[in-house]
Amino acid sequence: MTETTRPADPFTPPAVPAAQPAGQEAPGEFPGGAGLFRLDPDVAHLNHGSFGAVPVPVQEAQAALRAEVHADPDAFFVAVPERLEQARARIAAHLATDPDGLAFIANATEGANLALDAVPLAEGDEILVTDHGYGTVTAAAARRAPVTTVALDPALPDEDAVREAVLATLTARTRVAVLDHVSSPTARIIASPRLLAELRERGVTTVVDGAHSPGMLADPLAGRPDFWFGNLHKWGYAPSGTALLAVAPQHRHRVRALVPSWEDGHGFPRSVENRATADYTGWLAAPEGLDLIETLDAAKVRAHNSALAAHGAALLAGIPGLAALPHTDGLAMRTLRLPAGVADTPDAARALRERIAARERIRVLIWPWPGGGGIRICGQIYNRPEEYARLAAALPKYLRCA
Ligand SMILES: Cc1ncc(COP(=O)(O)O)c(C=O)c1O
Repeated sequence: MTETTRPADPFTPPAVPAAQPAGQEAPGEFPGGAGLFRLDPDVAHLNHGSFGAVPVPVQEAQAALRAEVHADPDAFFVAVPERLEQARARIAAHLATDPDGLAFIANATEGANLALDAVPLAEGDEILVTDHGYGTVTAAAARRAPVTTVALDPALPDEDAVREAVLATLTARTRVAVLDHVSSPTARIIASPRLLAELRERGVTTVVDGAHSPGMLADPLAGRPDFWFGNLHKWGYAPSGTALLAVAPQHRHRVRALVPSWEDGHGFPRSVENRATADYTGWLAAPEGLDLIETLDAAKVRAHNSALAAHGAALLAGIPGLAALPHTDGLAMRTLRLPAGVADTPDAARALRERIAARERIRVLIWPWPGGGGIRICGQIYNRPEEYARLAAALPKYLRCA
């Protein structure tokens, strides 16, 4: 795939005016939203789903904790287990889950590895994944057992179609299913509560990748899988390196830290959280992020973010060659398929994403897919409708096929 700026090039689709599509009201700005962050104002940050962003009050809470560490390291580190317990309890209340079944971890990738190590697998057992799964999570599965991959057409109409495709791919040897709550490239709900219940009935252990759930969904642990891991550093406004592993009671005794520590004999969750002399300030500041969302009114934040993403998707859908993919209402991410031949390999997708970032100062996710990739946009309280209009006006000139 190459790109041209020559207006006469026959492969260059005409620029679309960033006009308001009929029936698609641009949401107003979230009052005070942008002021809560210290993002570069010259950049349109339409990719919150990849790395999140940390609001200033959470940055300040973490800075205060770091100052405590440096003022009296002994006092700080001795108190870490107790303070983690308090932080965990605050977070468990936000997520409506049992604090004893919840551990702080570094990221979703670690969560996948911890969960899959805790499932007894015998020779010949298989793990089911989907082709929408995140690469590092699928790699964690493949390291432990042969994987069966469910091919999910990105255009599948709804959660039922996804559910049927997953169930149809089970084999007699499937012991574990690793499923996204919300998939990264396609922003689809895959691990619906109904699918989880049906897998459980078939004796399949359920592992849910909830990387995008806390802060974006009203019930991040919906369907209460056997194992769930999720990031607070995406939609939960927490510092990087802040994630959670939730484990159903019957599995907790098998969860072992990836690296043994002095707490190794203390079981879940304490043994998993102890990282010796590490930086615990992100985890301890994390409750401030979820508290902030509540203070802003979580339902309002969700509605605003999803309305922004829908607005952006409607603008992009007006570009010739782009096709909006089915979505679930209420999510703060939307995806569209790019024209055939564009971003059809990981290298091509990365190159396109970097070109748009460098030349337009717009951050979006471009995901590769055989035949033609896709674009994912996000809505967050710091975004403005004009940023999506800027993307819609700029994008056509990058869509020349290889
Ligand atoms: C669905 C999904 N799972 C897992 C991850 C990996 O998250 P982390 O980098 O925190 O391990 C991501 C990151 O974007 C993701 O979108």
